Amino acid sequence: MKSEDMNKRLLNRREFNGLCAALGSSLPAVATTIAALSSESTFSAAFGAASNDAERTVKFHDGTIVPALGQGSANLAQGRHPETVEEEALRTGISLGMTLIDTAEIYGNGSSEKLIGSAIAGQRDRVFLVSKVWPNHVAGNGIARACEASLARLGTDHFDLYLLHWPSRDTGLSSIVAAFEGLRAAGKIRAWGVSNFKVGDMRELFRVPHGDRCATNQVLYNVGSRGIEHDLLPWCEQHGMPVMAYSPLGGPGASLLRDPTLARIGAAHSCSAAAVALAWTIRSGNVIAIPESGSAAHVKENAVALSLTLTSQELQSLDTAYPPPSR
Ligand SMILES: NC(=O)c1ccc[n+]([C@@H]2O[C@H](COP(=O)([O-])OP(=O)(O)OC[C@H]3O[C@@H](n4cnc5c(N)ncnc54)[C@H](OP(=O)(O)O)[C@@H]3O)[C@@H](O)[C@H]2O)c1
Repeated sequence: MKSEDMNKRLLNRREFNGLCAALGSSLPAVATTIAALSSESTFSAAFGAASNDAERTVKFHDGTIVPALGQGSANLAQGRHPETVEEEALRTGISLGMTLIDTAEIYGNGSSEKLIGSAIAGQRDRVFLVSKVWPNHVAGNGIARACEASLARLGTDHFDLYLLHWPSRDTGLSSIVAAFEGLRAAGKIRAWGVSNFKVGDMRELFRVPHGDRCATNQVLYNVGSRGIEHDLLPWCEQHGMPVMAYSPLGGPGASLLRDPTLARIGAAHSCSAAAVALAWTIRSGNVIAIPESGSAAHVKENAVALSLTLTSQELQSLDTAYPPPSR
């Protein structure tokens, strides 16, 4: 293969495994080599240039293309792992193409944002940065204040995407959308979206001025929690809106990964159950999964999902083990 062709796309799983084996799984060597080989596609994925691997990227309605696999951070910087280890895990993910990073002001009361700020220092331009405002902070000019505080903790001057963490009971959607649009006009955020919105909430959002500029809805979705397939996922697809799937490994503790069907399919592909669960979640090209890990070894397992395609028989086995919601 010509080196310029290699540069134009992410490594496939066989190449990734082979590279790890050839380099004796030395993390710095693997990360450096992969970054060198795939820097163009990683950069493209985050910044909307053409990508040759459409199944592994997701396009927002404004044309921005992001990797279908990002990194979550709800429980980082809270003592589960040493912070240096968690920063290394995040940097490993970035070097393997998981350049979308999700955080929120509420995570560890700002400590997750600070940790990410350290992890991305010197490489902010490679990252598609997402944070969220808590609904208690949206009244008055609270969104602008919360956004400034989050930006300061992260050491950056803008978010690529800024989300309302949960629907607000007290503040109307029209003023929330107006505040987001104000931040967008001021260059503080490139796009905005919502989280934990049901279909009824989405319909209401689309009825307020500029509500249809919402870029995404971040919701619970994994092979064991398929509720959104009933109505929310089809609604978002009809409106050309990608969905961001949280807890794609089953949430803290990753209980889903003890499932024998996932393990059996993983064995057939020489990869982990985690990679299978993630490949399942991003299979449509319209879903971005944001697994969290504070372990570089786990992140390497997870990154394999970017180049793992499940067969129709494997998808059928997973449907049998975890039936889709009935209508
Ligand atoms: N919008 C919302 O309301 C909302 C709600 C929940 C979550 N989220 C976002 O979604 C992100 C992910 O969701 P989540 O943290 O609930 O759950 P998750 O990503 O499904 O699972 C995280 C757990 O999986 C483990 N893990 C990761 N990779 C693994 C692997 N290869 N093998 C074994 N274990 C592995 C992690 O432990 P290690 O660290 O030891 O790897 C951690 O315990 C959050 O961090 C957050 O950014 C958003």
